[in-house]
Amino acid sequence: MRRLAPVLREDGVELDLISLVRTILAACKDISFRVGQAELSGVLGSTLDENIQGETQKKLDVLSNQLLKDMLLESGFVRAIASEEEDFIVEGEHGGRFLVAFDPLDGSSNIDINSLTGTIFSILPVPDNKLAGDAITESDFLQPGRNQVASGYVMYGPSTILALTTGKGVKLYTLDKTHGSFLLTNENVSIPEETQEFAINASNQHSWQAPMQRYVRDLLDGKNGVRGKRFNMRWVACMVGDVHRILCRGGIFTYPVHTDNQAQPHKLRLLYEANPMGLLIEQAGGLVSTGEQNILDIQPTELHQRVPVILGSKQEVQVCLGYHD
Ligand code: AHG
Ligand code: MN
Ligand code: MN
Repeated sequence: MRRLAPVLREDGVELDLISLVRTILAACKDISFRVGQAELSGVLGSTLDENIQGETQKKLDVLSNQLLKDMLLESGFVRAIASEEEDFIVEGEHGGRFLVAFDPLDGSSNIDINSLTGTIFSILPVPDNKLAGDAITESDFLQPGRNQVASGYVMYGPSTILALTTGKGVKLYTLDKTHGSFLLTNENVSIPEETQEFAINASNQHSWQAPMQRYVRDLLDGKNGVRGKRFNMRWVACMVGDVHRILCRGGIFTYPVHTDNQAQPHKLRLLYEANPMGLLIEQAGGLVSTGEQNILDIQPTELHQRVPVILGSKQEVQVCLGYHD
């Protein structure tokens, strides 16, 4: 049965959407606590299982997934979820008008070394033809990133930080652990257009395509090269951490095509990594691309589809794209 028209708050954001984000945050607070307990709660290390992508699941990947899944499916706002750690979509309550795709714990290789991790989420509308109650299928999640009604991440670092967009700019909130609430700490994030900082896993250099080889070589040439300035490099091994740095002070981040892996030429996942981060970056004034097209315009074909990613400060991403023309 179709639900009543959504109730809007003064700034135009639906109350149901706000309640849904609050549900995600309730799960993330729990994840934040468990990440912090680490060895004390016996949550470090790996399970014996692999996810559908052939990656060994860490105990905290599984735990974070279960917390988000249970809370979202019981919330009444969510019709179905898709997760990095779930082979297939999972249906929730019939009244829910939203689909949520998430990476429960991004940066899994950082878990055991007490370094940055995060949760990434993407909220999509249930397609109109499914509002009447027909079963949701995987194809209902295959919407371009532009359809997202909200996206964000929660970063588990020295402080726990939420970056959120509902399509009207990007806000940052910091978890006040004395009260348990996320307090607004930056109400209008704006990425500087220029930068002298780049993020790429340089150990893959042998497998980059020619344009990326040339682009990075010119960055490394510094002051005396064609770019005429020195660039610094950072790599957190957690997309949330790298994107957060770019929201704070600019930069360019890329996980480009791997030419030496025909079976899996890209690393990052479209629906729950590239798209939600893409919307945040664009809403903060940055650019996001595969090298060929804007990531948010891609028509997805698979739930766990992977794509090349170039994102960050507008002018620097444009320079990088110039090498790809
Ligand atoms: P996940 O831990 O969810 O599998 O994602 C890891 C991703 C991303 O967060 C990060 O930018 C990248 O993989 C790190 O890749 P390297 O292992 O090549 O550093
Ligand atoms: Mn990830
Ligand atoms: Mn993950």
